[in-house]
Amino acid sequence: MEELRVNVELLEAFERGLDPRYPERSRIPAQVLGYGEISTVFEIRAEGMEGYAFKRLPVFKERSEIEPYVRSYEEYNRILSEEVGLSLPPYGHAEFVSQSGRPVFYIVQEQLPAESIGNRAIHLLPAGEIPMLVRLILRELEKVWDFNREREGLEVAIDGQISNWSILGFDPTSPHVDEDTHLLYMDTSTPLFKVEGVEQLDPELFLRSAPSFLVWLIRLLFLEDVMSRYYDFRLVTIDLIANFYKEQRAELIPDLVEMANDFFASEARDHDIAPITVKDVNSYYREDALIWWLYLALRKLDRFLRTRLLRREYPYILPGKIKRK
Ligand SMILES: Nc1ncnc2c1ncn2[C@@H]1O[C@H](COP(=O)(O)OP(=O)(O)OP(=O)(O)O)[C@@H](O)[C@H]1O
Ligand SMILES: [Mg+2]
Repeated sequence: MEELRVNVELLEAFERGLDPRYPERSRIPAQVLGYGEISTVFEIRAEGMEGYAFKRLPVFKERSEIEPYVRSYEEYNRILSEEVGLSLPPYGHAEFVSQSGRPVFYIVQEQLPAESIGNRAIHLLPAGEIPMLVRLILRELEKVWDFNREREGLEVAIDGQISNWSILGFDPTSPHVDEDTHLLYMDTSTPLFKVEGVEQLDPELFLRSAPSFLVWLIRLLFLEDVMSRYYDFRLVTIDLIANFYKEQRAELIPDLVEMANDFFASEARDHDIAPITVKDVNSYYREDALIWWLYLALRKLDRFLRTRLLRREYPYILPGKIKRK
């Protein structure tokens, strides 16, 4: 696929004037499109930057760390689109060294309409069509595990969260999905895959965004847990359904569990997935919400310590309060 190209000088100028605490007050203003656990996605309000989504990863210390990351990022995108058969929005990337000497990496994607993204679309679609949307996501996910079964020596992980999918051709004035609806997968910035059992992504990079006084604890407690769940079809499905708590549509969960079990017993029979219960989803959600709540709270404490007490730079953009149920 043709790479998306952007004006790197303009991006550097943007980074120079970026206010990580209030991105919208940056010299070249930006509008946040979405927060991830590690990165932030925004649009940049400047001529020549229209129609793109920028995903900023400020986790690199040296330029030499970017290279292996870029290789796995590109390989992951290639595998997902060319071998697994998912549809990705057109993408590219840009990298440079910031004024303060920090290497910065931006993923660039075609910007997709906000309402078409799963976590927005579930508030627009008729409730009766939401199980269909989730079934379509499970069909995309099944391609990953079909691939993993067939390809010796290669194992790909995926994050199936509702906010990682965009409905192609979605019309918010007449919201609708059916068997023929196509989905795009957006969240390719954590290229998790194993070659001959060896993880290709250096998980230490993603620990960088964690408060330094906690890295050892995170490594010990849940790095393994969080990374391995994306290799497990059943857990990825539980995670997807558990999102409906966070997105304030918990009333749909029993129907979604029923649909997923039907999917596992019919279309995805040969993957031998044990049925899911609402209780599985509940206890998973409680634990997951606690992990990420704690993580964000500690990052805010870390930001406070670094900027107010040590008067140092804090390069990460943190979300405000996350509304959860
Ligand atoms: N191409 C895009 N067009 C429009 N909005 C986007 C695009 N890519 C991402 N977003 C918005 O930003 C949100 C977060 O992006 P994404 O899922 O790629 O990363 P993430 O969840 O931050 O990943 P991680 O947790 O690995 O950092 C999306 O849910 C979506 O709302
Ligand atoms: Mg995401």
